[in-house]
Amino acid sequence: MYSRIAGTGRYLPEKVLTNFDLEKMVDTSDQWIRERSGIERRHIAAEGETTCDLCEAAARQALEAANLTPADIDMIVVGTTTPDQVFPNVACLLQERLGNRGVPAIGLEAACSGFIYGMSVADKFIRTGAAKKVLVIGAETLSRFIDWTDRSTCVLFGDGAGAVVLEAAESEGILSTHIHADGYYKDLLYFPSGVSKGFDDLKSGRDFVQMKGNEVFKVAVNTLGRIATETLEANNISQEDIDWLIPHQANIRIIEATARKLKMPMERVILTVQDHGNTSSASVPMALDTAVRDGRIKRGDLILLEAFGGGFTWGSALIRY
Ligand code: UT7
Repeated sequence: MYSRIAGTGRYLPEKVLTNFDLEKMVDTSDQWIRERSGIERRHIAAEGETTCDLCEAAARQALEAANLTPADIDMIVVGTTTPDQVFPNVACLLQERLGNRGVPAIGLEAACSGFIYGMSVADKFIRTGAAKKVLVIGAETLSRFIDWTDRSTCVLFGDGAGAVVLEAAESEGILSTHIHADGYYKDLLYFPSGVSKGFDDLKSGRDFVQMKGNEVFKVAVNTLGRIATETLEANNISQEDIDWLIPHQANIRIIEATARKLKMPMERVILTVQDHGNTSSASVPMALDTAVRDGRIKRGDLILLEAFGGGFTWGSALIRY
């Protein structure tokens, strides 16, 4: 038994913030941002627009693409690090909107790897027969916890959501998933406060995302190279067998370095970072949906998905689309 992708969807908030807009806010330039990160614009959630709103739009698109209704879904997994509330989790909030009461709703926090972690969890449930049709979503409103006066972080991040419907199938779908974490790196990329620590700072809005960009960059390049090798070896295939690489969209230079290690030409890499910046857990499913809808990814293609983020967490999925 496999889990195969039955449909994909994505949603980006209406408001666009370009590099030129940022030039007016902090000491930066369009040229610096494009050269160092590949980003040209990012989308920002409207006031009052929540992560669950983004999830719902992406989920409904994925359901439509799969020719399914919410009632067909028997499990929801949402990877996010920017939930609407501490609880209920975003998957529960989404379930209430979709109206499929009673199905398990899992909120999963693994920063930028949240979607790949979610795919891994959903795949296990489907393979064991515990679920048949699962909505897996990565969604973020990162703009809420960015310091818009800090040029080293505010130019990088954006909001968005991507969704897939996974369904049980006898023909090939997800061939393997690989997930890892190393909390040793917890101080390189983090948000300082939460509920049981620094709650007053959280409430007063004094805390923002912190990142040692340079150091994250180096570990990301090495780690993503390693997870690609691990995935190829586990499936006994070589890099030439892969039709498409869908990397986490954080920085074009990290993506190019991963593609070089895999000896993959950039024409076979799905690149969307220019359009929405780093959207954390939303980036991989949004890139997947982009390439499915524009016709590049076709049924039968072999796709390697990979992500890396705060924790550090990282993961990959090899999929026969
Ligand atoms: O999604 C989870 C994983 N996250 C990532 O993968 C992010 C990984 N890191 C990166 O993408 C890159 O490290 C950045 C894009 C964040 C930064 O690029 P960099 O080439 O590593 O630049 P840097 O941090 O070494 O900074 C170079 C220079 C510094 O100036 P000095 O010290 O050389 O005079 C910075 O102060 O660029 C300066 N700088 C800026 N200049 C203009 C930093 N941010 C900006 C800015 N505009 N926005």
